[in-house]
Amino acid sequence: MTAKWSADSWRTKPISQAPDYPDQARLDDVERRLKSFPPLVFAGEARRLTEALGDVAEGRAFLLQGGDCAESFAEFRADNIRDTFRVLLQMAVVLTFGAACPVVKVGRMAGQFAKPRSAATETVDGVELPSYRGDIVNGIEFEATARTPDPERLVQSYNQAAATLNLLRAFAQGGFADLHKVHRWTLDFVADSPQGHRYAALADRLSETLDFMAACGLTAEKTPQIRETEFFTSHEALLLPYEQALTRIDSLTGRWYGCSAHFLWIGDRTRQIDGAHVEYLRGVGNPIGLKCGPSMTSDELLRLIDVLNPANEAGRLTLIARMGHEQVEAKLPALIRATQRAGAKVIWSCDPMHGNTIKSSTGYKTRPFDRILAEVKGFFAVHRAEGTHAGGVHFEMTGQDVTECIGGAQAISEQALADRYHTHCDPRLNASQALELAFLIAEGLKQERATHGQSVQGQSAMRSIAHAS
Ligand code: PEP
Ligand code: CO
Repeated sequence: MTAKWSADSWRTKPISQAPDYPDQARLDDVERRLKSFPPLVFAGEARRLTEALGDVAEGRAFLLQGGDCAESFAEFRADNIRDTFRVLLQMAVVLTFGAACPVVKVGRMAGQFAKPRSAATETVDGVELPSYRGDIVNGIEFEATARTPDPERLVQSYNQAAATLNLLRAFAQGGFADLHKVHRWTLDFVADSPQGHRYAALADRLSETLDFMAACGLTAEKTPQIRETEFFTSHEALLLPYEQALTRIDSLTGRWYGCSAHFLWIGDRTRQIDGAHVEYLRGVGNPIGLKCGPSMTSDELLRLIDVLNPANEAGRLTLIARMGHEQVEAKLPALIRATQRAGAKVIWSCDPMHGNTIKSSTGYKTRPFDRILAEVKGFFAVHRAEGTHAGGVHFEMTGQDVTECIGGAQAISEQALADRYHTHCDPRLNASQALELAFLIAEGLKQERATHGQSVQGQSAMRSIAHAS
């Protein structure tokens, strides 16, 4: 695919999952307005993330990516943003301090609005309406007006993303993420649980280490990594009119960047090699992701890698495997071997959510925690066997005390799903389940290092602390 790229060259390609806007003129008008709005992120930040991900690709760090399946207008509140952010911080500390591995933190936040759907319409009691495609497209209520795609929603999404990002930047750099506050990140409902206790013990050890470091002269004043953190945003680049309107030229390098988020990914349903989404993402300078479901073949993957990362730059491309707990050990090795043979510099990350969705007997879409765990374990086992780096994880999660995934230490039952089922799309891990997984992953990373120390190289305690925040 050597044809010339432009921010709108995707429009000449077949597109899947695109909403049917009834009023093209209104969509054009909204796109024009969005184009005049400031970018949400800067190219330099996206390049900084590529560099951090380069360390992941080379086995020296780990990618932690997580957040809502779908952000919504209704759940847009400071406490929701703060709580997801702090669970991600807690998980990062467990991994950094528990496994002595630097962690790159990326939220599915500040732009994760658009959803691919398996069917274009939904029928209830004989009434057929367009499917809900995320708040950036239409409303979730099963009602004709709400379900009609409305371009004004692009503007509301942009505004919500801007405000969310503003708060995340303040949290990351304004003192909230200071490692001296590790104890305070625990959410009340988690504090008195096995995960809460385990976390408190780790936080105690971390506090002692910080005291020791301060005694050696390494204080927060001299080591900013102790009092602030780097936090990046990401979403699926699904709604291309929105992405195109926020695509800007970087004045420093003359390259195009998608300025709606630092990291953008291609979903499993829109990864057609000649399709619009691959066309759009091949041309932006951001680090990008590619979801790899069980139908992905080695040939297909290698062709996509050629198109998406022709310069074979480490950190540019993250392959997010979402095979399902039953298939991960059968399907992943061939794909890993193909990338190894081709010498492709990629990050392998594990999304243990999207291949493990079932319908509960009580009618809810859910994900059994033990299957999520099994997929993560399988992912680590495959990488251990292949001698490659299990580079990251990709979770749908929230800091709220929701009951959406069954099982876990809280043993959420199918009956309990009704208690606090708030997701606008897929079921998310709650804070306690997310923390439980972080401890498991820390174990996996330690084992990886024990098996082949060259992968995640031994970091001194101090180096890992410096990266912890
Ligand atoms: C998602 O990440 O929300 C998603 C829809 O995933 P996938 O493309 O892997 O199905
Ligand atoms: Co989802």
